[in-house]
Amino acid sequence: MNEQVDKPVLTTRQGHPVHNNQQQRTVGSRGPATLENYHFLEKISHFDRERIPERVVHARGFVAHGEFEAYGTIGDEPASTYTRARLFQTRGTKTPVTVRFSTVIGGRDSSEATRDPRGFAVKFRTEDGNWDLVGNNLPVFFIRDAVKFPDVIHALKPDPVTFRQEPNRIFDFMSGTPESMHMLTWLFSPRGIPADYRRQDGFGVNTYRMVDAAGEGVLVKYHWKSQQGVESLTEEQAAAIQATELGHASRDLYEAIERGEYPQWELNVQIMSDDEHPELDFDPLDDTKTWPEDVFPLRPVGMMTLNRNVANVHNENEQIAFGTGVLVDGLEFSDDKMLVGRTFSYSDTQRYRVGPNYLQLPINAPRPDVAVGTNQEGGPMSYHVDDRGENPHINFEPSSVAGLREADESYREYRPFVSGQVVKAPIERRNDYAQAGEHFRTMPEWERDDLVKNLVAQLEQCDGHIQEKMVWHLRQCDEAYGGRVAEGLGIGAES
Ligand code: HEM
Repeated sequence: MNEQVDKPVLTTRQGHPVHNNQQQRTVGSRGPATLENYHFLEKISHFDRERIPERVVHARGFVAHGEFEAYGTIGDEPASTYTRARLFQTRGTKTPVTVRFSTVIGGRDSSEATRDPRGFAVKFRTEDGNWDLVGNNLPVFFIRDAVKFPDVIHALKPDPVTFRQEPNRIFDFMSGTPESMHMLTWLFSPRGIPADYRRQDGFGVNTYRMVDAAGEGVLVKYHWKSQQGVESLTEEQAAAIQATELGHASRDLYEAIERGEYPQWELNVQIMSDDEHPELDFDPLDDTKTWPEDVFPLRPVGMMTLNRNVANVHNENEQIAFGTGVLVDGLEFSDDKMLVGRTFSYSDTQRYRVGPNYLQLPINAPRPDVAVGTNQEGGPMSYHVDDRGENPHINFEPSSVAGLREADESYREYRPFVSGQVVKAPIERRNDYAQAGEHFRTMPEWERDDLVKNLVAQLEQCDGHIQEKMVWHLRQCDEAYGGRVAEGLGIGAES
């Protein structure tokens, strides 16, 4: 009697039952193996292809599912004051979400206790299709122009010869990139190593737009506020964790959800009128800057709860694809030069990393009640043809016979007016140091001590001229900040 009779039967992908999964088919019990053994060939050749390329950045991450519940308001006003996006309009509207938290620089199996920004990417599965908010746990970024992204990532990734992350390479780049000082001040402070994924905030970082029913836009920055509080690790605590475990943050999230302790984040926005704001000492489209909260207050929009773990890491974590171009009606881009570059880069890498039909995968497709009608055909791994109505022969538009039609005029595209000389030029209000210095001065003393200690530990490993350049920049941020780092490095006051 087969003791395992209650289990489903093992088959090949062709649906043929597998009677022996312990031995290959061979001539006699000692071999040689035969080539016509379809079961073995299918099994081993599928195994050979189990991995897809890891993400070029944010390779290590973890996914959970849940829902976002709208307050129906943005701060004290109806959500419709600022945006016509339907997911925000009515109090209690629940939108399914999938979130992927990640580190940035390490590979797929690297430590989750490193000093590194954390990715905080949210896919909202709305009734109007998907909206992705692809953010980080720190409010600013190293650079403000997308053309520099490969350089900042090359400097932070391992050396192409030694394959070691080298402080000298990192600070060689950063000391030639003054706009990075604000981000470095966050990253080397205690906030640079979040305790885990639950106890961190999230930020959209880039500036977006919201558009109302009349087609009027405002500029927005997005913030996620952790309801678990914000906790960080010291270098020593992080070292102790990664001595025994590389994936503590993924485990923490998974186990909390299994226990029914569902983590929550409140979505808040800051809002500015859509213009250049000459009264400010920074440019509202500059992602190396925060918007002062006393002038642009946080306005709550809704609450996100994560309540379901993944069923399969490859399908839901490796193959999920987020992008800043994935927007719904009422939520728009701004002219932020990083954001525009990001928007090209995400879907470009996903067509390579996952494949040109990545949007057919259930993890990436809009939810089932959203109609998808395209005339796209073919490509590797295509298995689905969109509903094109009665006549499957018509995969073009316009057609006098059948097929898909354009949406009605009532869809009001947002059309900002833009004019100007085409140039390659930096923005005018760079102000690279003021917010870094202000941030340094508002930290509690122990955080300042930690920041200086962490920077000195890295800069000690750098060439003298790089140390001096970094100290010079930090003195521009705040004399005491640069002075304390110089003192830690044992370099003179004149540097
Ligand atoms: C021009 C600047 C940037 C470029 C070109 C860029 C490009 C990329 C690329 C190519 C990926 C891999 C995507 C994939 O394989 O699916 C990625 C992932 C990611 N990026 Fe960026 N990025 C930029 C800046 C930023 C900024 C400023 C943030 C934070 C606001 C950010 C947050 C993320 C996150 C969270 C992921 C991981 C998404 C996931 O979990 O799948 N990136 N980025």
